[in-house]
Amino acid sequence: MNILEIIAKKRDKKELSKEEINYFVTNYTNGNIADYQASALIMAIYINGMSKEEITNLTLAMAYSGEVLDLSEFGIVVDKHSTGGIGDKVTLILAPIIASLGIPIAKMSGRGLGYTGGTIDKIESIPGYQTNIDIKTFKENVKKLGVSLIGQTLNLAPADKKIYALRDATATTESIPLISSSIMSKKIAAGANKIVLDVTCGSGAFMKKLDDAVKLAETMKNIGKLAEKETVCVITSMEEPLGEAVGNSLEVIEAIDALNGKMKEDVKQVVLTLGAYMIKLAGKGEDIEENKQKMLEQIQTGKALAKFKELVQNQNGDISYIDNPNLFKKAKYILPVVSDKTGYIKKLDAKMVGEISVALGAGRIKKEDKIDEAVGIILKKKIGDKVKVGDILGYIHANDYTKGKCAVSDLVDCYEISSELVQKPQCILKEM
Ligand code: URA
Repeated sequence: MNILEIIAKKRDKKELSKEEINYFVTNYTNGNIADYQASALIMAIYINGMSKEEITNLTLAMAYSGEVLDLSEFGIVVDKHSTGGIGDKVTLILAPIIASLGIPIAKMSGRGLGYTGGTIDKIESIPGYQTNIDIKTFKENVKKLGVSLIGQTLNLAPADKKIYALRDATATTESIPLISSSIMSKKIAAGANKIVLDVTCGSGAFMKKLDDAVKLAETMKNIGKLAEKETVCVITSMEEPLGEAVGNSLEVIEAIDALNGKMKEDVKQVVLTLGAYMIKLAGKGEDIEENKQKMLEQIQTGKALAKFKELVQNQNGDISYIDNPNLFKKAKYILPVVSDKTGYIKKLDAKMVGEISVALGAGRIKKEDKIDEAVGIILKKKIGDKVKVGDILGYIHANDYTKGKCAVSDLVDCYEISSELVQKPQCILKEM
């Protein structure tokens, strides 16, 4: 067996055997297969797809490419993951709320992928916060505080780490076999027994249509079943960005506001729905609506915010930034974006907003690019809102004036304004 035969087989739309998939994953992880060969195979998978059996074999090979954590000492551990979006600060809000209810959270999050942001890039904008910690400390944190949030820097699913970075740089992100194996391999390796997945759908998501989002959800639920990890999927709308802020520290500030009781309605619906299922899977409440109330109480009593501070402090982050978000370094230019029309916002293209944010420096174009934590976009008007000529649609936070000016005119193009009344879009599209 060699990699050329495997690439050719997938190129010719044939099914790969378990041995061939294992060969690729093992040898790519240990450096015996070059990036250009792996890219060719990944592109062939992207174009020709994979059978259910191939997806399962790929997921398991990736999950077992490194260590697989045993978290049984913590009882039921529920994990959460999103298939990616714009302005998605959900984990930063949800993890402390759920941990404050006594449900352990041991979460390995990702960095930005394509035009979507990543929780790890966001939380690293809190000075000092360590995302790169060893497995022993990770487990000790969960034991001590009930929560730890880390990056994919441990020896957990190292094959995914390499393939994820490669996909980011080869336009192979929007693929059901590649997304489902990437997410489920990490979830299996990280050791949770139950999984809640936020499957995003719409312009700013990798799945643009509901049918495809349902297919992705079904694929991941099937892997969960085979791996004996009960999996619930919530399909959420990513037609427009989630909440108000897009960009790393801007989103952390929005998450702190949310934990202080000022949560935007769309963010609230997504956070509460995902969290209510996490509580249910943890065996701490059967009734979804009651679970949402329990979560709101954790915010009102300040317990969720206190847990977030404990999490940050325990991972070396400077909690004075949480007490006073004004400390976050601001971008040099804050440029208003003004409406030149009167009417109702009909469309706010999430993917374009994500691309503007990457162009400002909030995401990467090459694997080695450094993130600019301060830049991004604040959206003051969202779908369904009324606007008049001269109203502020949003603000661009830029450190480069030319890029900032460009972003201002690009953001105007993200909006479609209609003279007819537009309903606020539904945030939760399906629960399965
Ligand atoms: N999140 C992941 O971890 N992997 C993907 O492929 C997409 C989103």
